[in-house]
Amino acid sequence: MEIKSVGVVGAGQMGNGIAHVMALAGYDVRLNDISQDAMDKAVALIRKNLDRQVSREKISAEERDSAMARIVTTTSLKDVAQTDLVIEAATEREEIKHKIFEALLPDLAPHTILTSNTSSISITRLASRTDRPEKFMGFHFMNPVPVMQLVELIRGIATDKPTYDSCLAVVEKLGKTAASAEDFPAFIVNRILMPMINEAVYTLYEGVGNVYSIDQSLKLGANHPMGPLELADFIGLDTCLAIMNVLHDGLADTKYRPCPLLTKYVEAGWLGRKSQRGFYDYR
Ligand code: CAA
Repeated sequence: MEIKSVGVVGAGQMGNGIAHVMALAGYDVRLNDISQDAMDKAVALIRKNLDRQVSREKISAEERDSAMARIVTTTSLKDVAQTDLVIEAATEREEIKHKIFEALLPDLAPHTILTSNTSSISITRLASRTDRPEKFMGFHFMNPVPVMQLVELIRGIATDKPTYDSCLAVVEKLGKTAASAEDFPAFIVNRILMPMINEAVYTLYEGVGNVYSIDQSLKLGANHPMGPLELADFIGLDTCLAIMNVLHDGLADTKYRPCPLLTKYVEAGWLGRKSQRGFYDYR
């Protein structure tokens, strides 16, 4: 089935990036959030990021204007339910995601594919509480979405081939590259990335290095574009902790134990860039 319209649920960090790339690739986008304010901010940010692409001559002004015209915001999930492909990009909390899918169900078009941008939660479990586990899969973008080349496509136990192929065609139309992952905790990218970030926090916690030396070591010693603590602030420390908990619970191995310092920062509300304070101070 050819996808023409995409519904994005959640206008936060990931949702606005997803709406941005989908609209730029020619899809009609319905961007949904419970808060009109969040959607207004998302649209302003999409415009700013498209302007940046125009100024760097990645896209033309006409492409930017057509992309903006393809994005419609709505606080009603009913408007999203009639699209060809729904991508849920809400907070990384399983109950919230279940509630969103349950709220969509009564109005879904029969052909609509449901996906989640979850970075770690079981696709099979999310799918099991919908009416279409065979038309359900993981569609996981990386942050910042307009820049990062990869999309992880995760099949749940019941996902059928036409659903996978339709999603793969979307990734290709976006000009991105898909990595196919099986449905195990945190899939591929976060299974590898998050233990590294968690280990960097342990390295800080145990006084092996300070924030600066840890980040410099990985940037200059391993050619990472960002140090692990800077990257944790960028992703959000609450998201990092949530993913470590999924790994720890799902794989029942102490090697995934979240560092107590990471937990403490989250409890303090020091969530990284989004709260202006994390391992770095952005105030
Ligand atoms: N929209 C559009 N373009 C953007 C953008 C955005 N939101 N953010 C950055 N860019 C563009 C810039 O315009 C610039 O373009 P040019 O190359 O044409 O000049 C390019 O990206 C680089 O940006 P900057 O020059 O501003 O900054 P930088 O060189 O320091 O790069 C970065 C910034 C791309 C974020 C880089 O530091 C990086 O790659 N960091 C690592 C990011 C990463 O690892 N992401 C994955 C996180 S894990 C994840 O997302 C999964 C999960 O589930 C948690």
